[in-house]
Amino acid sequence: MPLGLTASEASTSPIQDRPVAPGAAPGFPDLSIIARMANAFFHLAPNQSLTPAADPGIPIAPPSPAFAPAPNVVTSVAPHTPANPMVGPPDLPPTTIPSIAPTPNLVAPQAPSLSSLPPGYGEPPLPGASAGSSVPFDLGETTQLVPAGHRGNSYDPAAAASSADGAYFLKESALLSLPQALAAPTVPPAPPGAPASTAPSAAPAAPAATYNFLELDLRPLAAPARGAIGFPLDPEAIKRDFPILQERVNGGKKLIWLDNAATTQKPLAVIERISDFYKHENSNIHRAAHALAARATDAYEAAREKTRRFLNAPSVHDIIFVRGATEGINFVAQSWGRANVKEGDEILVSHLEHHANIVPWQQLCAQTGAKLRVAPVDDSGQIILEAYEKLLGPKTKIVAVTQVSNALGTVTPVAEMTALAHQHGICVLIDGAQAVSHMPIDVQAIGCDFYVFSGHKVFGPTGIGAVYGRDSVLAQTPPWQGGGNMIADVTFEKTVFQEPPERFEAGTGNIADAVGLGAAIDYVESLGMANIAAYEHGLLEYATAKMLAVPRLKLIGTAREKASVLSFVIEGKETVEIGKALDAEGIAVRSGHHCAQPILRRFGLEATVRPSLAFYNTCEDVDALVDVLFKLQGRN
Ligand code: ALA
Repeated sequence: MPLGLTASEASTSPIQDRPVAPGAAPGFPDLSIIARMANAFFHLAPNQSLTPAADPGIPIAPPSPAFAPAPNVVTSVAPHTPANPMVGPPDLPPTTIPSIAPTPNLVAPQAPSLSSLPPGYGEPPLPGASAGSSVPFDLGETTQLVPAGHRGNSYDPAAAASSADGAYFLKESALLSLPQALAAPTVPPAPPGAPASTAPSAAPAAPAATYNFLELDLRPLAAPARGAIGFPLDPEAIKRDFPILQERVNGGKKLIWLDNAATTQKPLAVIERISDFYKHENSNIHRAAHALAARATDAYEAAREKTRRFLNAPSVHDIIFVRGATEGINFVAQSWGRANVKEGDEILVSHLEHHANIVPWQQLCAQTGAKLRVAPVDDSGQIILEAYEKLLGPKTKIVAVTQVSNALGTVTPVAEMTALAHQHGICVLIDGAQAVSHMPIDVQAIGCDFYVFSGHKVFGPTGIGAVYGRDSVLAQTPPWQGGGNMIADVTFEKTVFQEPPERFEAGTGNIADAVGLGAAIDYVESLGMANIAAYEHGLLEYATAKMLAVPRLKLIGTAREKASVLSFVIEGKETVEIGKALDAEGIAVRSGHHCAQPILRRFGLEATVRPSLAFYNTCEDVDALVDVLFKLQGRN
């Protein structure tokens, strides 16, 4: 089935109920109406009106009356004695969102059988999700709400293959040349009535049959020589840049840090940069005429430029500093989301998401009456693109999807998913929290409207991260938090807001840690993100092969495209027991649900053990991990 509609199909689409300006694209609302509504919402004076941009970005709905403050509010001096007690019960009873309420005594649900899912799969019953009713995909009911800037952004497999993720996706031709022992699992015949796109079921099989790294040769398990292809970095030299990696723990055991998906360690360059900031530059920014204010402002804005370069964003105005990926997603949900999502709309996430890319959308659903829908994954842990595509439709307002799964390590096809969503005029947010430390990122090649990441997962400080927003989308996004720095002018009658990015950075931000993030970006760029990706790919292949030799060990997440993560369980062993045994030898991994309960439950699990690699890890680190796993089973 062809994707999207042709221009002539679009022009005859039955959905044409939005106001259309003369000459405007079919199905796209009159920009002057949007601008007037936005001006009223932002309280801009008439001479400061927003003019519609050439690329209007994602279609913007008017702010809901409850959300938009009335324009030109006249305030009076507050009475000395408040009419109501200053402290009392809240105006509204606290809202409980059923889907995120704690569930005591939870019984691990069975993984749903893909063959029994209806074509509109994505709504519940998914454990813990709050999705809506099934709306079968009907191409005839879709319309082209594609903004001008997205037109022509149709999916091009060749372009996708050369995109930032291209290296992670295997070529069909390579698949054909696979040795038999490493071939993809046999696809069982589809049960009657199953959707044609149903992915292969991961039948329990010998490890070699479920293992999908094509370049892997399972036979020689010796560590590749340093300097060999795939090992462009010298991890031992790199380790020396990280003081904490010299630490001894648990009675003098050398620390082996394999919990990089939870947080990464910091090189001396980052630690010293933050220290230097406080020794020589500390001041508030954008606010004073003195020397330190200039130094601090320069350092902070230099970090914004480094972040722009790191993501290949077009402009520093597109980069907003936040506390991290979680705050970034909450910001988008509560600013863009509250202005654009209404009752009956749909928000589409994938089954891979961690809680930070689920809960903010559930909260938005509870606030607006929208429905959360979930794109399924196959038994390897990869998103089923055909099923995802069927969930895109006129009701979908935003797709929010991870680039790398923190629980399974799956690298998702974000460029393709973005292009498919844009064919329907749908806004796309990519959660890059787990991707940024493992591969080059190019938000322009991905084509997304928002991209979020956390500094602490890319060797920077905690409490700092960034949101990239497409300029035309940010221009029409209302502020989230109010306060200093984000305003151009304040009176008691009205406030004029700054342009992006300051409009979205209320108050005094995390200045020193933004500077530290800039130093972390300098550090990884000095190694080269492409070198990091190549090195880690080789290390992941090595680790996967070694771990599959451990008796009764099952890898959870066997997608062909993976980064960093080796989630596993061992039959007959509790995950916490394995974690403790590793810790006793100085090896740090995470055991638990990894803040991503829905995807673990998709595999019938409540917890896994999750070693996660970074460029400072070595084959020796992996060997030490595997040795403990063998010993745990009474073998060596
Ligand atoms: N999201 C982080 C993890 O994967 C905390 O462990």
